Amino acid sequence: MPDPRPIGVFDSGVGGLTVARALMDLLPDERLVYLGDTARTPYGPRPPAEVRRFTVAAVDELARHDVKLVVVACNTATAAQATAPSAFTVPVTGVIGPAVVAATRATRNGRVGVIGTEGTIASGAYERALAAADPELKVLSQACPRFVELVEQGRTTDPEVREVAADYLAPLVAAQVDTLILGCTHYPLLTGVLAYVMGPQVVLTSSAEETARAVFTRLVDDDALADRGGAHRFLATGDPAAFAALAARFLGPRVAPPDVGRVPAWA
Ligand code: DGL
Repeated sequence: MPDPRPIGVFDSGVGGLTVARALMDLLPDERLVYLGDTARTPYGPRPPAEVRRFTVAAVDELARHDVKLVVVACNTATAAQATAPSAFTVPVTGVIGPAVVAATRATRNGRVGVIGTEGTIASGAYERALAAADPELKVLSQACPRFVELVEQGRTTDPEVREVAADYLAPLVAAQVDTLILGCTHYPLLTGVLAYVMGPQVVLTSSAEETARAVFTRLVDDDALADRGGAHRFLATGDPAAFAALAARFLGPRVAPPDVGRVPAWA
């Protein structure tokens, strides 16, 4: 039986829109309710316990919109183990597993770079997941704290962005990684600069498409696909107009500029 309820998508800010976009591409009959905690982004420097608390409350907020599944489209929250199933009344899925699948498939020389927020890199979640997938892989991780701030300002290509990227990525270029995991859902918005700095021989993988595929599989297996589409909803804890402007830009011209509602930041 089709399940017309929407899919919830959560991130600290606009980064989860990269996952939302992949879901829209792969599952055009699904409606999304997107929640960005833009009033409190970035999550990267916050203690894991606080990230967990914010995420649990965000999932509760999305559950009030009668979603059938919540995608926590935030590596920092996934790395802080905020997606542990016991905490929620709705099914919840994170983004680290799907990114690892994509990277293990892509690497040819077994050297994989991981970039993410301070929280994600400090958690070691990617190293553990990659070692479990293939113990032979050599993994080099790098926190890139300024990337989220730049993306949230809508800055994705200017000279300072290129300079910051060149600094962060220099050790990964030197280590000759052939695959780079964009371990933060904001980073696909920097793909141009990241590809430019890493060079054409390096494959960039992100969790967006893999997560969308995992959601597709899950909904098919559960016989819970929707069959008639409908309008997406966007909610932000910060300024709705600022979110709308960035979202319209990052979702691309095929998606109508979103109508953004404001929800109060929870305790
Ligand atoms: N986009 C998020 C992630 O994937 C969070 C970034 C942040 O708020 O620091 O980690």
